[in-house]
Amino acid sequence: MTQKTAAAKAPPKPETKAPAKTPAKPADSFTLTDNASGKSWQLPARTSVMGGRLIDIKRLYGDTGVLTYDPGYTSTASCKSDITYIDGEKGVLLHRGYSIDELAEKSDFMEVCYLLLYGELPTPEQKTSFESDIRIHTLLHEQLISFYNGFIRNAHPMSIMVGVVGALSSFYHDSTDITDIGARRLAAHRLIAKMPTIGAYAYKYSLGMSFPTPHNDCSYSENLLQMMFSNPAEKYKIDPVLAQAIDRILILHADHEQNASTSTVRLAGSSGANPYACIAAGIASLWGPAHGGANEAVLKMLDEIGSADRIGAYIKKAQDKNDKFRLMGFGHRVYKNYDPRARVMRDTCHEVLEVLGVEDPKLKLAMELERIALEDDYFIKKKLYPNVDFYSGIIMKAMGFPTSMFTVMFAIGRTAGWISHWKEMLRDEDSKIGRPRQLYLGAKAREYLPLDRRGHTDKKVSWAWLWGG
Ligand code: SDX
Repeated sequence: MTQKTAAAKAPPKPETKAPAKTPAKPADSFTLTDNASGKSWQLPARTSVMGGRLIDIKRLYGDTGVLTYDPGYTSTASCKSDITYIDGEKGVLLHRGYSIDELAEKSDFMEVCYLLLYGELPTPEQKTSFESDIRIHTLLHEQLISFYNGFIRNAHPMSIMVGVVGALSSFYHDSTDITDIGARRLAAHRLIAKMPTIGAYAYKYSLGMSFPTPHNDCSYSENLLQMMFSNPAEKYKIDPVLAQAIDRILILHADHEQNASTSTVRLAGSSGANPYACIAAGIASLWGPAHGGANEAVLKMLDEIGSADRIGAYIKKAQDKNDKFRLMGFGHRVYKNYDPRARVMRDTCHEVLEVLGVEDPKLKLAMELERIALEDDYFIKKKLYPNVDFYSGIIMKAMGFPTSMFTVMFAIGRTAGWISHWKEMLRDEDSKIGRPRQLYLGAKAREYLPLDRRGHTDKKVSWAWLWGG
């Protein structure tokens, strides 16, 4: 059969309609199906440089009218970032790709500030210039110093930090146009430079002592040391071991991805608020005992436990669902392995105590507590390990810092991270004012009740219940 006849004889091909255009699946995506309606949507996947895949739900509500519910952001990325990477399962912490172990051992806090802000370790010239940029901003305006007199002498230093750093905005509000990169850079340098001075003055104020000025011939950590512990009646000799230990403590606290206080700074900054006010908001969030206040809480807990024979009872308390007690310095939202900072902090703790010739029974108690907890099934099952706060308080106490100053030290170190995230957020084209939604479980629409018809509800509630006692 010739080609032609064959073609003539073949039945006409049924009219096949082009398939309805289903939205093309993005290259890499997840499918969301609503079992109630049977509808499905394609949600694009985003891939982290370190391999993790995320569901991009930016358009979810717009496309589906459905919200997600995730109190505490346990499964939600609030932003994209290049600054810090944490692998909680492996106990890995990288700042711009460099491991915290290497930075703690080989770098210094000024270098880490530069790395967090600019993404690369500084060249010798860049480091010298950055250090001098910071050095020229360590002094406080004399009128800002008068703010301290408004506090009661035994005010918690973190309350002073929140107040004085917030007040910084009153000195620079008019000169801080956050759309201007020069103003952003200046604000970042001012905040990094002034935090040690503001923190040290909070301590001196509690002692009724005069405020030492920062010295330009001191390093950042040497300055913090001499402003904290110098006595105007004597020549202060800087102990290089203590200065080095302070520098390492600041490095270990410098940044940690989207933790509560950093997220607070980002959320405050997303409205265009003054950077000094944003950092004051971060300080307020850090103060909580579940976050940066844990180092102070660890020492209080060790005092309460008192001796190794009482550890078992406290480990039991920590597991009791009806007991609000938690083992302070243990557990972490992200680390389900040893916090790499805790390891470095523990080693530094041994070094400092040895050099200082301090036999701190609290260190022995802490190590015994760590040993018992890490062998306990509950802690193993829940993957609860010591975090950065478990050992930091012991070192700082040995160095002479009062317990109430531990979180101030945390805030001084973390300011580098906070301001780097603030800077990154302002440059992020995806960035917009943070405005989470909610799962509403309140009253349905109801009419106003005149005064004479109220109080007849049968629902009796106690103040304790109302206040979540
Ligand atoms: C910091 O986010 C960061 O990166 C923070 C930080 C940073 O550098 O910015 O790393 C600094 O804040 C370190 C954490 C310091 N806080 C503490 O040491 C306080 C004690 N730790 C806990 O409060 C707690 O572990 C958190 C707050 C740190 C983490 O809490 P999560 O992620 O909300 O975990 P969770 O409370 O849901 O705990 C999971 C389970 C719970 O039991 P179940 O409800 O599943 O039965 O583990 C239990 C918790 O009860 N648990 C603990 C515990 N921590 C968690 N039980 C006893 N003791 C603990 N310390």
